[in-house]
Amino acid sequence: MNDVTIIPWRNAARDHMHAATLAELHGRHGTEKVSFNYRWEHVTTVVTLALRLAELTGADAETVEAAAWLHDVCKFSDGEHHPQAGAAYARAFLPTTDFPPGKIDAVAAAIADHMGLWREEPLTVLESQVLWDADKLAKIGLTAVFHWTGGALAGERMHTLERLIHRAQANDWLPKTVASMHTAPARKAAEQRLAAYHALYEALNKELTGADLL
Ligand SMILES: [Fe+2]
Ligand SMILES: [Fe+2]
Repeated sequence: MNDVTIIPWRNAARDHMHAATLAELHGRHGTEKVSFNYRWEHVTTVVTLALRLAELTGADAETVEAAAWLHDVCKFSDGEHHPQAGAAYARAFLPTTDFPPGKIDAVAAAIADHMGLWREEPLTVLESQVLWDADKLAKIGLTAVFHWTGGALAGERMHTLERLIHRAQANDWLPKTVASMHTAPARKAAEQRLAAYHALYEALNKELTGADLL
């Protein structure tokens, strides 16, 4: 009799990712009890966006969802090599679940492909394109503003609004990210998000400097 328990993949992937975010908090802050779990917020956002993009583009929903849950599972442990490490993690982990074995290669490929804030050469496989677009969409726009602000405030260093604004405005790669979007809905949303991001910082700057007092 086979006593190996096959676990439902979605819950298992979510649990593994959540555990990785707690390990990251421990590594960064020495405790899990911080006011904002940036990595968890980021990954859950990417899952939502990837599923929506799959719906709009016809990408395989299971493949992009599994890839989205696991794409940053090795981010803290492996830094810039985390796409390859995450792909290997998915290859080892998904077979212990009920995830369709025939889709594991595509999940691993999408995770391995998600590196970079912009791309010189576009990706060619739809599921990889969707994960890349969803991941980068989460780094543009008001989502990014609140994620970064939350992450910064969860740390121990003192931040001033001025410093947060300065840091956000130094992100000169954002137009390149928008131009690198693969799918039409992501490209359109990215343009709108970048405009909203600039508008927010412009308005905030006006408030803080009193430039709105006429
Ligand atoms: Fe990543
Ligand atoms: Fe990510």
